[in-house]
Amino acid sequence: MKAHGQPMSLKTLRKATNNFCQTNFLGRGGFGVVFRGELNGTIVAVKRSNSFFGEVDERSFNAEISMIKTVRHRNLVALLGYCMKKEERLLVYEFMSNGTLADHLFYPCKRTYPLDWKQRVTIALDVARGMDYLHSLANESFIHRDLKPSNILLNDDLRAKVSDFGLVKLVHTMRPMTTKLAGTFGYLAPEYAFNGKVTKKVDVYAFGVVLMEIITSKKALDPSFPEDEHHIVVLFKKSFETENQFKQFMDPVFCVDNEAYACARKVSELAIYCTARDPQHRPEMCHAVNVLGPMVEKQWSRPSSGSLQPGLDYSFPQFNGLLLSPTSSMTNYGEQSTFTGANLTL
Ligand SMILES: Nc1ncnc2c1ncn2[C@@H]1O[C@H](COP(=O)(O)OP(=O)(O)OP(=O)(O)O)[C@@H](O)[C@H]1O
Ligand SMILES: [Mg+2]
Repeated sequence: MKAHGQPMSLKTLRKATNNFCQTNFLGRGGFGVVFRGELNGTIVAVKRSNSFFGEVDERSFNAEISMIKTVRHRNLVALLGYCMKKEERLLVYEFMSNGTLADHLFYPCKRTYPLDWKQRVTIALDVARGMDYLHSLANESFIHRDLKPSNILLNDDLRAKVSDFGLVKLVHTMRPMTTKLAGTFGYLAPEYAFNGKVTKKVDVYAFGVVLMEIITSKKALDPSFPEDEHHIVVLFKKSFETENQFKQFMDPVFCVDNEAYACARKVSELAIYCTARDPQHRPEMCHAVNVLGPMVEKQWSRPSSGSLQPGLDYSFPQFNGLLLSPTSSMTNYGEQSTFTGANLTL
């Protein structure tokens, strides 16, 4: 199925999901319930909003959809279609067979085995590329605002794509009563939490938190943390200062050899940079691409350091026929849940 962002009928989507059958249930989030479906032989994920909407939001829903469907990148989950019929709002996405990064990091028994460190840094690069592309788009509409491991999906080859970009705005459009604040606790940049100011640096902060989760396999707000230091950013920065403490804090996959450990240190420096308290001290996403790109290329191109997995695409992205080197800036090419409108008192 090649079409993107096409209007689809409710009848088609009912048929595709076996009438939204429980056996097709994939998960539930802030927008609604996600079902596995089949459209003309292609497996898809159908997101069905659980709120009731009047007809007033139709125009704004359409306007947001037409923005979202223009966004196309190999590291972003594609919106294949949508449906708006009376109170129903459905979004159809490409299906990501390996689920969310959260499943792999925090619930490894759900999956066959934990991600190794090369897979983790490759996923980090994929996410950085997707986010860098979003930030390179014409206006500030594509600040994600809800980047987190459950919005990072993995395909057959464990390559990552960012999902739900535009969704926060869409939900606001559909529920105009809500305030501007949206996101997930643990990933909110301090300035955003305090004054609701949204800039690209809000996403950079969340990306830094995700990097810390990738390195430690601990959640941003992990129940195992001491009560007075409940946020990963605080603990991560503290443990980074002492090698022994840091080794204990990180996931053991990064302690397998010196190369993995050196890699973890570099990724950690990037994570700390991205989570700087002052947004002006955080880098742009293209910086993350430039740091992670050569690192990933080095890992996978070294035959002695582990075999390449057949079928995986380790090449750097091609866009409009231009092969981008790993060091070039990508800016030139084109069960914590989301809350929206919460009144935050911090
Ligand atoms: N494109 C997809 N392919 C495969 N599974 C998906 C896809 N999109 C979502 N899912 C599954 O559905 C679940 C719910 O997704 P959803 O985006 O609605 O919520 P979330 O991201 O977990 O939470 P929140 O709404 O708070 O961001 C995911 O955890 C994932 O397991
Ligand atoms: Mg999601």
